[in-house]
Amino acid sequence: KRMNKQKIIIDTDPGIDDAMAVFFAGLSEKLDLVAMTSVFGNVTLDIATRNAMVLAEILNQNVPVSEGFSKPLVQRPNPVSDYVHGKEGFGDIPARFPKAKPTSVPADKYICDLINANIGEIILCPVGPLTNIAMALRHDPTITSKVKSIIIMGGGVFSGGNVTEFAEANIWNDPHAADEVFAADWEVTVIGLDVTQKVVCAHSDFSKLANKAPVIGGFLAQATDFYIKFYKEAVGINGCQMHDPITVIATIYPDLFTYEYHPIEVCLEPSRIGETMISKDKKRRFAKIAVDVDIDAVKKIFFDTIETGF
Ligand code: BDR
Ligand code: CA
Repeated sequence: KRMNKQKIIIDTDPGIDDAMAVFFAGLSEKLDLVAMTSVFGNVTLDIATRNAMVLAEILNQNVPVSEGFSKPLVQRPNPVSDYVHGKEGFGDIPARFPKAKPTSVPADKYICDLINANIGEIILCPVGPLTNIAMALRHDPTITSKVKSIIIMGGGVFSGGNVTEFAEANIWNDPHAADEVFAADWEVTVIGLDVTQKVVCAHSDFSKLANKAPVIGGFLAQATDFYIKFYKEAVGINGCQMHDPITVIATIYPDLFTYEYHPIEVCLEPSRIGETMISKDKKRRFAKIAVDVDIDAVKKIFFDTIETGF
């Protein structure tokens, strides 16, 4: 691997768009995917951990996978989103059993260890519920000043939700953890539905990719078959939203997005649980909230990287 690559940890609940995000990170010559940490969300924790290792195996890279939490901090777990991502997480692709084993150190501690061993160098990129990140903050609050930055896929400060009228899935799955992450003393970059919903890719984009990059493109074309059916039936659009890959793209191409700065608070009241709201709490740091995106540019970067990287 070349020097000067940006080190990144992806905290993930794979998941079809999670797979896109991980493939992008593994194949970008600008990124060094130092580890993945798994979390419940789109699938159960055991499937998430297994799927993260499957993605590393498909990439043919030795990316350590550390297992995280199976349940939210406070609330009862929501049901898994198998109607969006399929029973095993990758649409109707059958379960695959990787050779690798997860690390012996659990995700919250592993995240802290890696950040402490690479001070100022790691971008933390959670694209699932924020349980592992909240627990890492509890384990070692000093990571807030030692991480290079934290860029999360979650929420929709101006757009509203995708699971309920108010809540986006990652925040909805552990609103208490998300609120701890926004309350901590660091600037969180939020790539939420405000921008991710604008980036929609059609099945033809993935079938073209499959011709040029049969292994990874073929995998994504098959997985997105299922994912796009969900978007057609439930959302009424002819393609899928690229939530998680766009978030990883934001780690190395921040200028393709425009931002607003506001402190964020997560609604913990049952009626609007999981809503990301602008906070009046004077003590909260301002979050960097993406509000617009260069749609064509991020799509091109995604497909070019997968096509040429493998
Ligand atoms: C987010 O929720 C999950 O279903 C996706 O993988 C993405 O991280 C979008 O709301
Ligand atoms: Ca995800």
